[in-house]
Amino acid sequence: MVWIKNGGGLTASDVTPEAVYRQRRRFMQAGAAMLGSALATSWLPAEARVSLGEPKPGPFSTDEDKTPFDDVTGYNNFYEFGTGKRDPARYADRLRTDPWSVAIEGECEKPSTLALEDLLKPHAFEERIYRLRCVEGWSMVIPWIGFPLGDLLKRFQPTSKAKYVEFQTLYDPKQMPGQRRAVLDWPYVEGLRMDEALHPLTILAVGLYGQVLPNQNGAPLRLVVPWKYGFKSIKSIVRIRFRETQPTSSWMKAAPREYGFYSNVNPDVPHPRWSQKRERRIGEFRKRRTLMFNGYGEQVASLYAGMDLRKYF
Ligand code: MTE
Repeated sequence: MVWIKNGGGLTASDVTPEAVYRQRRRFMQAGAAMLGSALATSWLPAEARVSLGEPKPGPFSTDEDKTPFDDVTGYNNFYEFGTGKRDPARYADRLRTDPWSVAIEGECEKPSTLALEDLLKPHAFEERIYRLRCVEGWSMVIPWIGFPLGDLLKRFQPTSKAKYVEFQTLYDPKQMPGQRRAVLDWPYVEGLRMDEALHPLTILAVGLYGQVLPNQNGAPLRLVVPWKYGFKSIKSIVRIRFRETQPTSSWMKAAPREYGFYSNVNPDVPHPRWSQKRERRIGEFRKRRTLMFNGYGEQVASLYAGMDLRKYF
């Protein structure tokens, strides 16, 4: 490192184009966060392509302690890279996220396939600190960077027949070695009812902890639906389809008695093989009580008024 004496009060931002300077600074922050960890820096190319700007704090954020970055990016479920919790961090560097495009199709006036850059262009990114409760019984608090899914969906003008939205992850066994095994019926598919998809809590995430999403967390674009079990929050999305009929998710196909379409976090409806009353927040020792709708009942309970949530689990 060469230090230049500060004669005229110049800083790096005065002599470097703003965008390059900001990018470089973000690279440096990313580097610092990764120091001492064995994680690959595979997501840096995406960084060069999609600037996160300076996300504003968004609504609905919890003030609970955030789960440490190393846990958020080192303990994952992403079966396309293996079923072990450490597999995604180890193998997801094989995923190429540039170029990336997303097809929007089905019941809408303006179906199109857009390059990620064009898909993201109109949206301002916000930080949303959400709880994520995995169906397996652990939870995290993650500072996502993203924007409301509803803002994106409306651009394609869903028709009156659009009652549901289906999402698909990339299918490419060369890049995703987990897809060479029939653990699930690939590609990974998830779905939401239209009102759930348009709910202001539902976001598409492009980053976390102020940085571009690491591949293991679902780069370059993933869903986050914080009142539902984590498996609804599908990663690395390449297709969004408006549908008249309810989609069948990969987990419903794999085990229909265990995983329903709604999958709202509900401590009173046990999984057939274990209770859902408690959860272990990653980093904590004692278990906590699981909250109805993962604590977002005030915002979403009305979506399910009159529904028997034991039947529609
Ligand atoms: N999306 C895809 N495509 N494949 C997966 O295996 N796992 C889900 C969800 N999205 C999964 C996925 C599950 S079970 C959980 S709990 C969350 O991602 C985990 O997200 P995280 O690893 O970013 O914490």
